[in-house]
Parts: sequence; C-alpha cells; structure tokens
Amino acid sequence: MKIAVVGTGYVGLVTGTCFSETGNQVTCIDIDQKKVEMLTNGEITIYEPGLEKLFLRNLKEERLVFTTNLEEGIKDAQIVFLALPTPPGEDGSADLRYVLGVADNIGKLLTDYKVIVDKSTVPVGTAEKVHAAIAKNCKVEFDVVSNPEFLREGVAVDDFMKPDRVVIGTSSEKAKKYMSDLYAPFVRSGNPVIFMDERSAELTKYAANSFLATKISFMNEIAQLCERLDADVDMVRRGIGSDERIGKRFLFPGIGYGGSCFPKDVQALVKSSTEVSYDFQILNAVMDVNEKQKLHLLPKIRKFFKGDLKGKHFALWGLAFKPNTDDIREAPALYIIDALLAEGATVSAYDPEAMNNVKSVIGDKIQYAESQYDALTGANALIIATEWNEFRTPDFLKIVSNLKSKVIFDGRNLFEVEAIGELGFHYESIGRPAAVKK
Ligand code: UDX
Repeated sequence: MKIAVVGTGYVGLVTGTCFSETGNQVTCIDIDQKKVEMLTNGEITIYEPGLEKLFLRNLKEERLVFTTNLEEGIKDAQIVFLALPTPPGEDGSADLRYVLGVADNIGKLLTDYKVIVDKSTVPVGTAEKVHAAIAKNCKVEFDVVSNPEFLREGVAVDDFMKPDRVVIGTSSEKAKKYMSDLYAPFVRSGNPVIFMDERSAELTKYAANSFLATKISFMNEIAQLCERLDADVDMVRRGIGSDERIGKRFLFPGIGYGGSCFPKDVQALVKSSTEVSYDFQILNAVMDVNEKQKLHLLPKIRKFFKGDLKGKHFALWGLAFKPNTDDIREAPALYIIDALLAEGATVSAYDPEAMNNVKSVIGDKIQYAESQYDALTGANALIIATEWNEFRTPDFLKIVSNLKSKVIFDGRNLFEVEAIGELGFHYESIGRPAAVKK
C-alpha cells in the first residue's frame, strides 16, 4: 500500500520504517528541513535499538522516502498517519495545535479518498475535531481513524512488528478494510486487531498507560510498607505476580516512572476527567506517589551521612529514565541530582547513552565519567538510578577499590541483599531490608 506519515519524531519514524519493512511504499513528511535532509542521507535522528538497520535497508530500497512537502507527500497515499506532538499545555491537557494544524492543511489538499489516522496520543473526541478540520475545506470523501501506538522506548521495533494487539477506532467499513489489510502482516501470530469506535480507541491508550502507571505506584507504596514492616517487596512481588489475574510484569518497585508517556498521559487523563466533572481519584494518588518516589533514596542517604551532605561526593549510575534509551524526560536521576547539589554535594555520573542529553540540560553542574568505574573514583557512595544491564553484574572488586567507602544506594533493586552484604557493603534499596556494614 502507499502510506504517508506526517511527523518524523519518535512514533512517526518507527511507524514509517516498520510499515516500509513489510513492503509498503512510505513517505514521511516533516516541516524540519534539516531533519528531512539527515534522514534522506541515511542519518537516523533517534536512538532506538534495531531501528537503524530497518531504516537503512528500506531507504536503500527506496520504499522509505522523506520530504518537507505535505502536498507531494500525501498525493498518492491511501492512508495518511498523523504522528505529531501533543505536548501538555500549562493545565496538563494535550495541546492539539499541531494535529489540528496539519488536519486543516490536509483538508485543502485532498483530491481523492484517503484514510487519515491519528497515531498521536490524543484526548477523547479528537478524531471528531480532526474530521471537522479536514471537512472545512474538503470536497472529497475521507475517513478519520484512531489507531493509538503502544510502543515502549528501547523495544519499539519489536512492539510494532509483533504487537500484543492493534486497536483501531473507526465507524467506517471502508476504512476498516484499509486498516485490516495494512496490519495483516503484523498480526499473523494470531494477536488481535480490535475494532471499536473512535472515542473508545482514544480512551484505550490513556487507560492502558494509566493502568500501568497505577500498577507501578501501587508497588512503590507496597515497598514503602515493606520498609516499615520489615517485609521484602521482592517476595511480595513474586507472591502476588504468580496470580494470573495480577500478572508478573510491571510490578517492579523503584524510584518512580518517568519518560515521555506515563507522566504526560496520566496527567492528561486526570485533566480530561475534570473537564467532564469527574474526579479521577486513583490517578491523582498515582501521580502523588510517583513524585515522592523519585526522591525516595534521599532520606536514606541523608540518614546515612547524619544529615550532612555538604562536600560529599556521589557516583551516579544511570541518567536515562529507563535502560536502552537516551531519553531523560522526567528521569528520576535528574531529581536526585538536583536534590544532592542543593545540599552541597557533588556528583559524577555515568550512563551508556544519555550523558549528552543531560549535558545539554544541566551542563557542567555535575561531572561525566568515561565509564561506570571511573564515576566511582573518590566517591563517598554509589547511587543507582537506571537498571542498565551492564550495571547488574559489575566487578565488585573494582567498585571497592574505586569507592572511598563501600556504600551503595540502589533505586532499582539490582543486587541480592544477602550477597552484597557478605561483600561488606552498606546497601540500601527499595522495599527490602538493608545490608548494614558491620
Ligand atoms: C510506555 C508504555 O509501556 C507504552 O506502551 C506507551 O505507548 C508509551 O509509554 P515507555 O515510556 O517507553 O512506554 O516505558 P516503559 O518501559 O513502559 O516504562 C515506563 C516507566 O515505568 C519507566 O520509568 C520504568 O522505569 C517504570 N517501570 C516499569 C517501573 O518502575 N516498574 C516496572 O515494573 C515497570
């Protein structure tokens, strides 16, 4: 099929590349000329494992092309995806300026039937607004479909190529046929394409992310309780996760969720609820718990250093909001850095991918180490903020010889408490007993 994707951000680029991989002819459109030039020249603009290989292959085969010209880009397309930003406005609601702006322009350009698809995460009712924006200037038949993405950063290619489900919101039989043909190669495994109305599809996206965020905040509260009741959250997690109704995944406590989706989507759903006079109480608590959780290690650190962090030096492993990404949006590590610096401490950080991004935001307020072990040199303690695989089985001898004292505060529960205690570390993590230095 012939596809156009408007917006070459994270979602747009993954969507365009993956559709071209199954043999579709894809044109990606962006107003950013520099970005379009880079992409045309084979320079990928985001870090996403596995994407570059597919991107280069399809670029070479000319199944994937880039342009700044909307008219040219959508001319031959049967389906046009809108993968545009919906940043939170000041009140937390999603800002639809970009989506509706492009819809307006598309309306002026349509000359034959096309399916216009909202891929961006948008509030309930947006498909109707997009429809109205296009219809204003348009004389030909068209349909607007809601098709939310469920891509996790770091595994987005897999999530796209082998989705657990594809949600498609449309009331048009014709659009339904186009969309099922397009997605057929992606659901060969038998996973479902779930058709529904536009509004339910829009709400499904927010409900999925808000539910997962709730699961995390719930476990973070159980972890808080474990610390006060001398229980071990790892045991409780395993105990409840083996109940199929609960499920094993997304039960890991830590120093809170971050990223570009959960914080924004939970906030937007609360805002949408308020607009229809509904107080979504659970989600308010989910956000509250998460804000507190980001700084959960701080009281432990303060207590260990008897309330005085002035002049103390900390090694920090992990800056990205989660592993396998360079994304630092709402990353707990940044909140920890702020708090440490405010109390007069210094920080030397290491992250395999996210250091440049942090540098561009906070500059040389902290030191950036060449390796995870370099970060430890002369530090009074190590703090772990992201569970990169390379942090999971480190060389403890190197840690011991580089750190000033054997002290670790682990926000991601990477190590077995007993084993690390035997190595002589003072070790505190989330919701588990501490290993206390004798
Ligand atoms: C999420 C959704 O998973 C995806 O479907 C959606 O479309 C976009 O938002 P992403 O933000 O990439 O994807 O990250 P994800 O892997 O889901 O993790 C989100 C956050 O939850 C991270 O900060 C992670 O550290 C945290 N998390 C996750 C936990 O604290 N505990 C867990 O058990 C799982």
